[in-house]
Amino acid sequence: MEGRFNAAQKALKYVKSGMVVGLGTGRTSEVFIKLLGKAAKEKKMKVVCVPTSNRTKEAARKAGLVVRELNEVKGVDLAVDGADQVDRKMNLIKGYGGALFREKIVDYGAKKFIVVVDESKLRDELGGWVPLEVSPFAVEQVMRELKRLGVRSRVRRKGDRRFITDNWNVIVDAYFKKISNPERLNLVLKGIPGVIETGIFAGRAWKVVVGNEEGARVSIRR
Ligand code: A5P
Repeated sequence: MEGRFNAAQKALKYVKSGMVVGLGTGRTSEVFIKLLGKAAKEKKMKVVCVPTSNRTKEAARKAGLVVRELNEVKGVDLAVDGADQVDRKMNLIKGYGGALFREKIVDYGAKKFIVVVDESKLRDELGGWVPLEVSPFAVEQVMRELKRLGVRSRVRRKGDRRFITDNWNVIVDAYFKKISNPERLNLVLKGIPGVIETGIFAGRAWKVVVGNEEGARVSIRR
């Protein structure tokens, strides 16, 4: 909890009045949203926010922030988003919360993209479950294709039903023990018809803010 808070607080210093800010999804993003709402009120900052999920939209409104759809703004200046895994080169796995599709659109489209995580998310190399947003029409075929490629996969569930994304799609989680080339894997997976987006965010983060109990540090892409 402290790690998330310290990371979110440090990321706040990159927000300037007049900016359009992309808001990520998840617990760390929600801490950031609360802090941004408070800062906007206290410092009379004018920020317009573009949320990456319905859940984030609600959190942003609750925090008193001005919310717009992506199509209503001329671009996003800064996106601040959490991640599930971060490797040494600042490649990410995202989507354990199921919001990867809109997150990727907003984070990749932003002039600058900052990742906020606690230390538990850091890895030498990415690996494990990679969420894929898949058209419901193609789920079985996508899973057959993954199997053909030697990849284990499962449809994400919420209780006794399939998890449905904000875009009315399904999440298929695909397992990769080690991901030595995230950029390539992203392209391979996106090449499967029916895969709408993957949770691999490779080479796009501008800074990663890593929080722990004591504070937060900032890593920059070299
Ligand atoms: C949402 O789909 C994810 O990409 C989140 O950004 C990610 O799961 C991080 O969430 P937490 O901050 O809750 O760990």
